[in-house]
Amino acid sequence: MLILGIETSCDETAAAVVRDGQHVLGDALFSQVTMHAVYGGIVPEVASRAHIEKVLPVVDEALAQAGVGIEAIDAVAVTRGPGLVGALLVGVQVAKALAWSRGLPLVGVNHLEGHLAAVFLGDGEKPRFPHIGLLVSGGHSEILVVEGHGRYRMLGATRDDAAGEAFDKVGKMCGMGYPAGPDIDRLATTGNPKAVTLPRAMKNKGYDMSFSGLKTAVAQHLQGHKPEGQALADLCASFQAALVDQIVDKVERALVEEHLFELVVSGGVAANRGLRAGLAAACARAKATLFAPPPSRCTDNAAMIACAGYHRLIAGERADLSLNATASLPLDPRPSASKSARKGPGVGRS
Ligand code: KG4
Ligand code: ZN
Repeated sequence: MLILGIETSCDETAAAVVRDGQHVLGDALFSQVTMHAVYGGIVPEVASRAHIEKVLPVVDEALAQAGVGIEAIDAVAVTRGPGLVGALLVGVQVAKALAWSRGLPLVGVNHLEGHLAAVFLGDGEKPRFPHIGLLVSGGHSEILVVEGHGRYRMLGATRDDAAGEAFDKVGKMCGMGYPAGPDIDRLATTGNPKAVTLPRAMKNKGYDMSFSGLKTAVAQHLQGHKPEGQALADLCASFQAALVDQIVDKVERALVEEHLFELVVSGGVAANRGLRAGLAAACARAKATLFAPPPSRCTDNAAMIACAGYHRLIAGERADLSLNATASLPLDPRPSASKSARKGPGVGRS
């Protein structure tokens, strides 16, 4: 089944052609990041207008990369939320128009489900169900039990800022451009993570996370000054270590308490080297395997939407033309089928 995926929830206009939820034949993306950088953050109206201009060329590019015309497409999958409502609407309207005009099945996809599905793209080893999912992006920080495609049990989430938001806000305080996550990641490699003592707010307390106290502690440390050179690298390393510590503590506990041996991490912050190293160490201690999509599939893309859409389509789900964009959309709250059963490492891995 050849699926056209469309993603316009935030500041990337993306389209992809994916066969059977796994093989990416075309993957096109226009990043608006430089358009928003001058404002120090995403401006919703700018995003919507750019999506309108770019969405059809990006769809054409994805089809061209795949070497097929629209007549070869079997179904359309589109992000329906969560995200910026004006931005989402562009993708939803285009998907509905294409599906209606070509008589194709249509399915709406939760953006977060897309991030969690990205690991199923390509030929690499795949996680089994159930597994622990860690979603860390500019808008979300969640720890879940992923029980199957489209079936989740939420363990915890951030109570305030998302992890990526904390990176971006701390970077802004230090005079960096938007998004600051990759710069902090790079500078942290040459800094001393113990140079500045920063709080690990919710460490050892449940699965919920909190990053706003950490951000305030950085602001108090700075007192309006912009650090440079080694002082900046040390602050970046200390901030990143405090944030990573909190996440890793919870994820490791989730693996142990849920008796699971596989961890999937996704979302833009999953590209962070400190986080990856911390999660790898936690997985080694918990005798678990870490699965992470390549960095280009951790950030927003349409292949992950096509993948998640495929699993909904083969389960019989169809959207009609009443499909709408929804700014706030939790992951499907269907009750879990069963409590996770412990399986030893390596047993039944596919
Ligand atoms: O998943 P994503 O592309 O968009 C959302 O759905 O939010 O994530 C973007 C976020 C930004 O906050 C960016 O600063 C952060 O991911 N990010 C990183 C890194 N690369 C991107 N944060 C830390 N380290 C990185 N290497
Ligand atoms: Zn995202």
